[in-house]
Amino acid sequence: MASVEEIKKEINRLKKETDTTILAHAYQGQDVLEIADIVGDSYGLAVKAQNDPKENIIMCGVRFMAETCKILCPRKHVFLPNPMAGCPMAEQFTKKEVENFKKENPEYCVVAYVNTTAKLKTCADVCVTSSCAVEVCRNIENEKILFIPDPNLGSYVAEKVPEKQFQFIDGGCPYHARMRKENAQKVKEKYPNALLLVHPECPKEVVEMADFVGSTTEIMDYARKSDQKEFIIGTEISIVEHLQFECLDKQFIPLSNQLLCSDMKATTLMDIYHTLKKEAGEEIILDQDTMDQARHSLEEMIRLG
Ligand code: 13P
Ligand code: SF4
Repeated sequence: MASVEEIKKEINRLKKETDTTILAHAYQGQDVLEIADIVGDSYGLAVKAQNDPKENIIMCGVRFMAETCKILCPRKHVFLPNPMAGCPMAEQFTKKEVENFKKENPEYCVVAYVNTTAKLKTCADVCVTSSCAVEVCRNIENEKILFIPDPNLGSYVAEKVPEKQFQFIDGGCPYHARMRKENAQKVKEKYPNALLLVHPECPKEVVEMADFVGSTTEIMDYARKSDQKEFIIGTEISIVEHLQFECLDKQFIPLSNQLLCSDMKATTLMDIYHTLKKEAGEEIILDQDTMDQARHSLEEMIRLG
């Protein structure tokens, strides 16, 4: 039986042999982060992949992230090591539903969180990430915005952009959306000096109690730079572990043990090993029209953000 350290060594050797870069979203486990070449949030990873010289990419995350990578790096081979890793929020609506809305409401601009499928991105006018959503929505010419697929992030943005009229569809991230103010109260009672850092995918009642609201990357940067010693982390539980490894003099407490995304935990070191050996994983193949149309909404984000 091979040990974890032996598999990591073999992965590092195979990466070089096969001209492959491994990208990992920050919600992956610590073992995956340790063999990754680039760690970050979904859009940041895809952008960095564009400037990477290697021919192959293994995207350790969920399917929409590998698709975004393929859209921005069409000439590279992009692999998802565990094809079962999806995102229930990204897959919430069909393209038809959004197209029907657009037909009936042509005055609306469709803004899609980057956490959407490539197919859904083709009918969005512009994409956003959690860190640039406010700025992009402010700069959109239309008065009316349909914000998909996360009504929690959408409501957070709508409060910051009161000059626009927002419309949402029910849904959201099943993990962040189930957080309640009682979760925050309970942890705050136990750790009264801890700062509460929250992702805007959480509901308003939790966001209102936060000392800081931001994307995964912004939460991590805030905790690293802060002089405070205790933090309650209101996003996926891996961030607690990664910050603990990085900042040994600080304490990180999860807002709830239920903030655990099983899809983000689906990818194992063995999946990555077998993908490198071409024995597992899935290469992301998208047709040219899907890639061109979806890329347009990502380029609009850069123009407006
Ligand atoms: P960010 O990494 O963009 O903050 O997204 C959070 C998330 O839920 C990713 O699936
Ligand atoms: Fe999707 Fe939520 Fe998991 Fe992110 S944390 S991949 S939004 S289900």
